[in-house]
Amino acid sequence: MARSGKVSVIGAGFYGSTTAQRLAEYDIFDEVVLTDIVEGKPEGIALDISQSRPIEGFETRVTGQTTGPEGEGYEAIAGSSIVIITAGLPRKPGMSRMDLIGVNAKIVRGVTEQVAKHAPEAVLIVVSNPLDEMTALAARVSQFPAHRVMGQAGMLDTARFSHFVAERLGVPVGSVTTLTLGSHGDTMVPVPSACRVNGTPLGDLLSAEEIAALVERTRNGGAEIVGLLKTGSAYFAPSAAAARMARAVALDMGAVLPVCAWVSGEYGISGVYLGVEAEIGATGVRRVIERELTSDELASLRRAAEAVRAKQADVASL
Ligand code: NAI
Ligand code: 2OP
Repeated sequence: MARSGKVSVIGAGFYGSTTAQRLAEYDIFDEVVLTDIVEGKPEGIALDISQSRPIEGFETRVTGQTTGPEGEGYEAIAGSSIVIITAGLPRKPGMSRMDLIGVNAKIVRGVTEQVAKHAPEAVLIVVSNPLDEMTALAARVSQFPAHRVMGQAGMLDTARFSHFVAERLGVPVGSVTTLTLGSHGDTMVPVPSACRVNGTPLGDLLSAEEIAALVERTRNGGAEIVGLLKTGSAYFAPSAAAARMARAVALDMGAVLPVCAWVSGEYGISGVYLGVEAEIGATGVRRVIERELTSDELASLRRAAEAVRAKQADVASL
């Protein structure tokens, strides 16, 4: 298999390190670069992942780089075609994603300034929370075209929904299709009309109350794991989602994925980063896909857009 290109992951915490590992194991990149501000952490994790190469059988080089407060070390990401921003604090039990906004905005702003300077042609994939606001902030600070900045949340929320449906019905997860749009938060919009199990509409298999319960568990999916872990938040499913988005960019796949993307006119919504389905390729978001929604789903999506629009405006000053 031909390998090419460089992908960088900023932040070598749980999310960043597992993302780097997944990207390396795809064996499609020349190099995966992992950075962090904690001295030695990215180098140590990169060395550890590299030593799994003979066992897992991949050739991609994995390098780590500590970065300093003035951007020291960021030369390591030069030439990256994709940069995934995972730097930032995770939630503690009882916290909402929004409680992280002040501290993470400062981190994401600083990181994005360096990324824009050293990897000006990259597609940015943001994962730091609160996701919709941090994606909008990264777009603003980088001044990259909107199609080159997107956030990861919808793939994770959709995967959680599918998992819960498969568990409830006792069917293989591969037979389940679900979808969530909207925000990565309270205004997440699960889309039951798009949900099928082996082609059968979910509404034919479960009552409205049962679907509502699965939707509620999906909406609280992140908090459920934070409550169990007690320190830190989920990273196995989140990193799988971010890595798949990067893969769709690297291989110019045109895969249709639920992502946080800039919306201009679709669903009658404009000028906001929002969870929608989009076709992902080498340029980032090729186009936002507008599907038929029920009137309730459409109203919920529009409400979600207005909720995140207000927060995305606030974040500009942070
Ligand atoms: P973590 O605490 O394990 O790692 C965060 C890392 O960021 C730490 O290693 C820290 O040193 C580093 N960091 C802090 N400031 C930095 C800077 N200026 N430059 C480079 N690195 C810096 O947290 P974890 O679990 O990796 O989560 C990271 C972020 O991802 C959190 O904000 C979390 O809420 C978010 N998240 C988002 C999800 C989504 O679906 N969008 C899902 C799961 C987590
Ligand atoms: C999650 O949904 C905390 O956003 C993170 O797991």
